[in-house]
Amino acid sequence: MRAKVIENRQLSEKDFVISVQLSESEIRKIKPGQFAMVQVRDETQLDPLLRRPLGIFDVEDNVASFIYRVVGRGTRLLTNAKNEIDVILPLGNYIEETAQKYLFIAGGIGIGGLFLAAKRFYQKGKEVVVVYGGRREEDLSALPFIEKYKIPCIVVTEDGSKGKKGLVTDVLEEFKDFRWIACGPTGMLKAVQEKAGIHNADCLLSLDTRMACGVGSCLGCVIKTKEGYKRVCVDGPIFKADFVEL
Ligand code: FES
Repeated sequence: MRAKVIENRQLSEKDFVISVQLSESEIRKIKPGQFAMVQVRDETQLDPLLRRPLGIFDVEDNVASFIYRVVGRGTRLLTNAKNEIDVILPLGNYIEETAQKYLFIAGGIGIGGLFLAAKRFYQKGKEVVVVYGGRREEDLSALPFIEKYKIPCIVVTEDGSKGKKGLVTDVLEEFKDFRWIACGPTGMLKAVQEKAGIHNADCLLSLDTRMACGVGSCLGCVIKTKEGYKRVCVDGPIFKADFVEL
């Protein structure tokens, strides 16, 4: 569907937030943890053909937002979107609200797949803590959004430029009885998966893989699991940590 761009704003050196207006019925269908396939080229071009998968970062009134990092030509083109973009959403499974305590573990731009759940669950009175980490302060571009909603947050950077110096996995042990949900680079997810195993924590991972179709037909997003290959776009992006092989 074509969606009107409300804003497309730079947050840090490489990170941007783009917000689009949707109808009330489209907004109502969105559940935390789902994603969208976003067309990055403008209306006048045919290239690049492929869409980019972006986590649905936030929903407020009739507006849905996505955080993205400029990592190549496609995402650079998206920074030019000013009028309309083509989006397919909501896609994938979602984060169920069946626990009382949630620990959201976000590595850099991985916050894009977790923030909506953290915000909604916190507003509903669940115990919520966000562990938000990156190499350096610039990687934590969504921090103002977390602060705006006063969601409890532990900030960790590898170079110590913001918050505690270290890795997100350094602070997980004290939250053993929370449900963990992690989204971020594969190395971080592997480390969280390992920690969850050590502490016997109930842990989910939100996977961010390359996708072509986003709707289950191209098999471009398959990952290895305990039950063979699964498609991240329709069987995920949320998986139990001990189910997937990273
Ligand atoms: S992206 Fe095509 S099957 Fe998942």
